[in-house]
Amino acid sequence: MSHDAPLAPATVTVAAGRPARTQGAAVNPPVVLSSTFVSQGVPAPGELLYGRIDADTWHPFEQVLGELEQSRHPALVFGSGMAAIAAALSLVPPGGRLVLPRHCYQVTLGYAADLSERQGVEVVLVDIDDTDAVLAALPGTSMLWVESPTNPMLEVADLPVLVEAAHAAGALVGVDNTFATPLVQRPLTVGADVVVHSVTKYLAGHSDVVLGAALADDDALHARLHAYRTLHGSIAGPFEVWLALRGLRTLALRVERAQANAAELARRLSAHPAVVAVRHPSLPDDPGYERAARLMDGFGSIIGLRPRGGAAGADAVIAALRLWVPATSLGGVESSLERRRRFATESLTVPEDLLRLSVGIEDVDDLWADLAAALDQL
Ligand SMILES: Cc1ncc(COP(=O)(O)O)c(C=O)c1O
Repeated sequence: MSHDAPLAPATVTVAAGRPARTQGAAVNPPVVLSSTFVSQGVPAPGELLYGRIDADTWHPFEQVLGELEQSRHPALVFGSGMAAIAAALSLVPPGGRLVLPRHCYQVTLGYAADLSERQGVEVVLVDIDDTDAVLAALPGTSMLWVESPTNPMLEVADLPVLVEAAHAAGALVGVDNTFATPLVQRPLTVGADVVVHSVTKYLAGHSDVVLGAALADDDALHARLHAYRTLHGSIAGPFEVWLALRGLRTLALRVERAQANAAELARRLSAHPAVVAVRHPSLPDDPGYERAARLMDGFGSIIGLRPRGGAAGADAVIAALRLWVPATSLGGVESSLERRRRFATESLTVPEDLLRLSVGIEDVDDLWADLAAALDQL
């Protein structure tokens, strides 16, 4: 094997972003607690100056994520996924046109509504899995926003086709890659302009930090995202980024196990008599199956579940569970679930009885026993 061969993503997650291998050096990067750095005279490009502009504890995490997304630039870490999304959506000019999936993270939709109110941005909602409908919405668009699979409906977009058509229409393409992770989908490699993550979810993976990241290949776009972060001060604390890097080291193992668990649970759920519908792109009859199999390196580990008995049935399932955690976030090592329509702000086209399951890395039979017992009582 050549020493120059590109490393597999699972290896990158472990090996990238380490300190130089000098005798006695720490194998992990340090947490540097300093708001300011020694500097006099005219600063050289890239010189560390001040902790809102740049901080060395961010760099290893940004390097690993940049390599995983196969970006020309390191990632830019932000204080939350929403901070990264706000930075990406700042690329839509006042009065511009923003096309978004009608089912996507509800706070992204809320932010788009705010842009519409304050900056006259025309917001157009589409079914992101209906390629013809998206193409029809593109003329005059400043940015097409894609989540795939979508939160919480798990629709899968035909990303390469959408990117090509959006560019032909003069639109930028932003992709929220939180659900897939860069191990499963790398939107920049099919031409997306900006990729964002809620690092809070799979990348950090332990439900103990709130963080975000944004990436762009293009020099000018990368510079604008960086400038947004500095101007808005939407930065991350050094401890949080260090924790996220520690979590990121096991991403490949966690994603592999969680995806295997999710596919097995989706299969078993499909056969349970108290289940009205299951969505997981791994199921051969799922509307997203063909695209996910063609475009992604896995099927993700979020399941959409509609149990018998409507919203009350769904709430009864949550109440009966002992192992699964009722919680709003996702992507942690622990399995969790939520009925999304408990929020008045969730899209009304999301079924009232839809449970969004975030499958973790526990033993699959323990997860199934808990879920099956909760469904059996319906
Ligand atoms: C798909 C998706 N994108 C973005 C976000 C926002 O990220 P954060 O909560 O880190 O701000 C979330 C949070 O739930 C999400 O599910």
